Amino acid sequence: MIELDDVAYSYSGVQLFFGVSLGLPAGSFHFLTGPSGAGKTTLLKLCYGELLATSGQVRLFGADARQHDRDQIALARRRIGVVHQDCQFLDHLSVTDNVALPLMAAGRTAQQEYDQVSDLLGWVGLSKQAGQFPPELSGGERQRAALARAVIMSPDVILADEPTGNLDWEMSQRLLRLLIELNKMGKTILVATHDLTLIRAAKAEVSTRVLRLRDGRLQLAGADL
Ligand SMILES: Nc1ncnc2c1ncn2[C@@H]1O[C@H](COP(=O)(O)OP(=O)(O)O)[C@@H](O)[C@H]1O
Ligand SMILES: [Mg+2]
Repeated sequence: MIELDDVAYSYSGVQLFFGVSLGLPAGSFHFLTGPSGAGKTTLLKLCYGELLATSGQVRLFGADARQHDRDQIALARRRIGVVHQDCQFLDHLSVTDNVALPLMAAGRTAQQEYDQVSDLLGWVGLSKQAGQFPPELSGGERQRAALARAVIMSPDVILADEPTGNLDWEMSQRLLRLLIELNKMGKTILVATHDLTLIRAAKAEVSTRVLRLRDGRLQLAGADL
């Protein structure tokens, strides 16, 4: 699905990481850990084509991200659902409308599509909040709404950036269960987190690989987790 080959990234000449090679095969579940500032968010941005590698190659669904034209980028982005660290909702739109936004943007506004939104809100446990506005949601509810929005276009890949960052343990586990369910449906998952307890809980249920970004390098984390 997504492949990085000897990738380096620099912000204005300052190298953040280098020699990063990584494959996210279909149906795989990866965690990305590492200290704050190590470059986890940046690496995720390379994985959905928001940033281009300074050197090395990023392949999205088999094609070099650098060679993508606008249509190809749009197409690749549609196959990748992203749960951003800060959720970014439109506060004047209801939860339903926020989750439906990607459908609207794609011109899909039929009743059938709205039924799909309400099914999805049911799945993440937000049926009651469907008509509320984002500022009225708790942290856990926001994250689940963000996950619903990320999967509304039925992406093949889901990238989640510290989705449990501000959540208590019960809410974190609830979100993890949703991610595991998506993985069991065949979705490819990459979760950036420094919550090792969450990673251990996931390992008990699915086969995952844990990657660690530190000192500019990406390593496979060992059995110490
Ligand atoms: N747009 C940017 N311009 C310059 N530096 C940035 C930018 N975005 C992030 N950085 C820097 O790159 C480093 C890695 O950031 P980030 O990828 O967000 O790390 P992480 O998600 O692991 O905390 C940080 O030192 C951050 O300040
Ligand atoms: Mg980050």
